[in-house]
Amino acid sequence: MRLDKLFSVTGILSRSQCARAAKAGLITVDGSVVRDPSLQIDPDVCTVTYKGEPVEYRKYVYIMMNKPEGYVCSNDEPGELLVFDLLDERYKRKDIFTVGRLDKNTTGLIIITNDGKSAHAALSPKRHVQKKYVYTLAEPLSEDDRIKLESGVELKDGYTTKPCRIIPTGDQSGEIILSEGKYHQIRRMFAAASNRVETLERVSFGKITLDGLLGRGQWRPLTKGEIALFTKEDGGENN
Ligand code: URA
Repeated sequence: MRLDKLFSVTGILSRSQCARAAKAGLITVDGSVVRDPSLQIDPDVCTVTYKGEPVEYRKYVYIMMNKPEGYVCSNDEPGELLVFDLLDERYKRKDIFTVGRLDKNTTGLIIITNDGKSAHAALSPKRHVQKKYVYTLAEPLSEDDRIKLESGVELKDGYTTKPCRIIPTGDQSGEIILSEGKYHQIRRMFAAASNRVETLERVSFGKITLDGLLGRGQWRPLTKGEIALFTKEDGGENN
């Protein structure tokens, strides 16, 4: 791979910025200053630095974030805070995206990656990957409404939701487990029962559970075990 390509795929420098940085003597490969941005390197073998900091190359990145309120799961939305703004420079690559989306006011587990194949599999309706959320509601949820919501309700746009599980932890709080993910689904489901979601937090996605040590806005790379769950054919669901 060309040196300038390494910098552009990792999102650290564009090709022209890389050429300027190389000219300025800011880039080293295996300890020697390299001024030629077209140099061929093997990123898995060579140690590349920029301004003295190692440049990490990974074909795929996998990150778990505890999304805070007020941030959007979008790569470009002018005027909005993006979840990617919370990452540090090493991980700010142009090719990363969130696996599905959480609403601006939903908190909790979001997976960020550039592995399109695994993300697609994890989101595929055929895989029925379960996502667990913790909710609080404006009004108490009656047992009748809980049963109706569990068996499927018609939303305003005419879509009837698939069966799900609702495990109350109080009159106005509980856990809801869905195996689908329509736009604003949980908010619209409770609205269909004349209620309103006050807070919503995703706590698991397939077999991957939100790390309790991550505060809101914090993130970490997925562990090897979590990557294995996520990249399995079934999106981490049935293992
Ligand atoms: N359902 C919603 O309504 N919002 C989310 O962010 C996720 C699921």
